[in-house]
Amino acid sequence: MDFLSTMKELAKSNRQRIILAEGEEERNLTAASAIHAEKIADVILVGNEEVIKEKAKKLGLNIEGIEIQNPAKSEKTPVYAKAFYELRKAKGVTEESAAKTMLDPLYFGTMMVKLDDAQGMVSGAVHTTGDLLRPGLQIVKTAPGISVVSSFFVMLLPNKSFGKDGMMLFADCAVNPNPNEDELAAIAITTAETAKNLCKMDPKVAMLSFSTMGSAKHENVTKVQNAVKKANEQRPDLAIEGELQADAALVEKVGKQKAPNSKVAGEANVLVFPDLQSGNIGYKLVQRLAGAEAIGPICQGFAKPINDLSRGCSAEDIVNVVAITAVQAQSLKG
Ligand code: ACO
Repeated sequence: MDFLSTMKELAKSNRQRIILAEGEEERNLTAASAIHAEKIADVILVGNEEVIKEKAKKLGLNIEGIEIQNPAKSEKTPVYAKAFYELRKAKGVTEESAAKTMLDPLYFGTMMVKLDDAQGMVSGAVHTTGDLLRPGLQIVKTAPGISVVSSFFVMLLPNKSFGKDGMMLFADCAVNPNPNEDELAAIAITTAETAKNLCKMDPKVAMLSFSTMGSAKHENVTKVQNAVKKANEQRPDLAIEGELQADAALVEKVGKQKAPNSKVAGEANVLVFPDLQSGNIGYKLVQRLAGAEAIGPICQGFAKPINDLSRGCSAEDIVNVVAITAVQAQSLKG
């Protein structure tokens, strides 16, 4: 079964309550109707009930039985505002500003997740990545033992000789603009865990650079070397190696030549990029030039799953991200 079908089947096997915070938007409505019909998750739409019902009617969508939460009317809004105030008062949030903030569907949805009224949230068809991440980072925060929220792409390559039958993970391609060595180590460890738990892969993590095992000297190379050292100290059980150039990470012959003692070189299935510029450029090049399907960005490291959509997404993309979010919620619940 392919990756997305597996995610949907897993999601169905133990349904989670997942929020679509942009509930009035057409692609979200179309996705919600499909998710409900296919029983992938118990989806919750955030928005104005009348607007949602009217739009669904116009689109010919059946949304009967789907929960709608309107921050302007919900009896939960003052409860969430109070809890948000308590969480953020040290950061200058007042009771008045908390009440106002809770009318924002993204903050309202994030508080629903925080207070266990839902298990995960998906948004971003209308809002930017930052709009979604900020409430998540402020309210839900990182999972125990994880210092940084990051993101990954599942890359499905037409050339099945790479990764696990063509499946690879790329990180971080969407969240941390310029991770320091501690953050980079954390990204490598979290992505290895994601590869194991979500993708059922045996992770071989290559920490990428323009240098292989000391072939070049530069502060950017040193950062990657130190990150590898820290990741290995923290998790000696994981195969995390570097610094490696992309060809040494991926091509057996080059790997053997440039890094003969490495267990990862030539067979990496997880690529960790040194910063967001290289990560974002890297995944888009593979997507466009190699014809890979890029699923993501999927966030990792949150205490509860919150995921972003591309503003160019389709309703089908939303269904897929909801399924992945539900599976992340299942595994976080253990
Ligand atoms: N992990 C954990 N916590 C974090 C992280 C992180 N990666 N980043 C910030 N935080 C915390 C901060 O410590 C802070 O906590 P506090 O308020 O409790 O002290 C809180 O989150 C807010 O931090 P700020 O620094 O004020 O947040 P900022 O305004 O810098 O926004 C953001 C953080 C949104 C992640 C920012 O770094 C960003 O915009 N990143 C790039 C996103 C982007 O544009 N991606 C490209 C998308 S393209 C694509 O998706 C394909």
